[in-house]
Amino acid sequence: MSDPDRHAAILGVQWGDEGKGKMVDVLTESFDVVVRFQGGANAGHTVRIGHEEYILHLVPSGILHPGKICVIGNGVVVDPPGVLKEVEDLEARGIRVEGRLWLSDRAHIVLPHHKALDRAAEERAGGGKIGTTLRGIGPCYADKAARNGIRLAELTDRDRFAHRLRPILEEKNRILRLIYGAPELPFDEIVEEYSAFGRRLRPMVREASALLEGFDRRGLRILFEGAQGALLDVDMGTYPYVTSSNTGLGGIATGTGFSPRRIGRVWGVVKAYTTRVGSGPFPTELPGAIGEDLRRRGREFGATTGRPRRCGWLDLVALRHTVRVCDVDSIILTKVDVLDGFDQVSYAVAYRMRGGEATEFPTVLNEKDAVEPVYRTLPGWRCSTRGLRSDGEFPPELRAYIEAIAEGVGRPVSMVSVGGERSECVRLDPPVGVREGA
Ligand code: IMP
Repeated sequence: MSDPDRHAAILGVQWGDEGKGKMVDVLTESFDVVVRFQGGANAGHTVRIGHEEYILHLVPSGILHPGKICVIGNGVVVDPPGVLKEVEDLEARGIRVEGRLWLSDRAHIVLPHHKALDRAAEERAGGGKIGTTLRGIGPCYADKAARNGIRLAELTDRDRFAHRLRPILEEKNRILRLIYGAPELPFDEIVEEYSAFGRRLRPMVREASALLEGFDRRGLRILFEGAQGALLDVDMGTYPYVTSSNTGLGGIATGTGFSPRRIGRVWGVVKAYTTRVGSGPFPTELPGAIGEDLRRRGREFGATTGRPRRCGWLDLVALRHTVRVCDVDSIILTKVDVLDGFDQVSYAVAYRMRGGEATEFPTVLNEKDAVEPVYRTLPGWRCSTRGLRSDGEFPPELRAYIEAIAEGVGRPVSMVSVGGERSECVRLDPPVGVREGA
């Protein structure tokens, strides 16, 4: 008999940095395989285990659990030196990766010209820049769609790689030189360097959709791990201030070749407040002292770029949109302890804009639009939540905040995280708030 919840997805439903890395780490206990399906080294998943901190960009955080299998799907754009360095660092810290990490042969590779073009375009855009991580993500996905990309399957064959790269690099070099006045990149060196990476990666490269089907047939449990967040989804997010992949549920279908019909459960990870790195609209941003306080207490600095994150109150207008498009079953609320000791906590339920009140997240939201969030405010909890291990111990003010979120978003909250450690996670049994019709 098949268990409908045997396979699950965990997705960020804000602008990334919701604390997915830690939650994947916690949930991995109940799964055998962890799969990344989109994004690239722009992601930064931080996991703390005891005194050790691990920041992973491409390798799924499931690797930190002995015996678990990790897969990087075809929808990921792989930075070959980046992934090799992560593997090397993990092995150096005593984590065995060999035989546990598989990369799809269909995954596209990020090449030096993608990084050079990402940087050149951002510099050229000046004040209008996206604020990308400069990891070459946008140009790599653009080339994939334009059929100018190169996949891992080709990187592991030196002659084929050189044959594909030559005309592509010729064109990119012209663009770099003529449009951006940037230096050209050396073909021979790249071929040598990257085919050496290809040789080292070859033992880990597989046809991953068949691999996943095999795991499914063997009865293994698969967890699909999202990177970034649904508001950065290229279709459903705050376009054009988004990343270049489908960060939501849809990304799993195209980014792994595994049928989404077999995924029984979707967790949406929500930070108890909101952050965003890079440019783009952020209606509940708090540029003053409260925002500064959130940044300091929540250590809100990018794991990939070190940039300070913009901080603000929780935004239920945006969340209603993302939990819908990701078909979230239940919410995991993270970093609740960061709000400990606040006199009051607020959350937005609507936007006042363009002469009216919007409760649906607008498709077009310019940074310069005068959007005034309509807030509801609740009393804060004056105690520390760090040591709490069951929801029975929650202060009533925190309980009220969780209820307001579940009700406002229309999805139950099933888990709350109150600190960075694996152990600082409280399962809500039963979950708070019940999905309509469930
Ligand atoms: P890119 O993905 O590097 O092209 O950046 C596009 C936008 O997505 C920028 O605003 C980045 O700051 C943001 N972004 C990319 N990856 C992450 C992430 O892992 N967390 C949060 N924001 C991200």
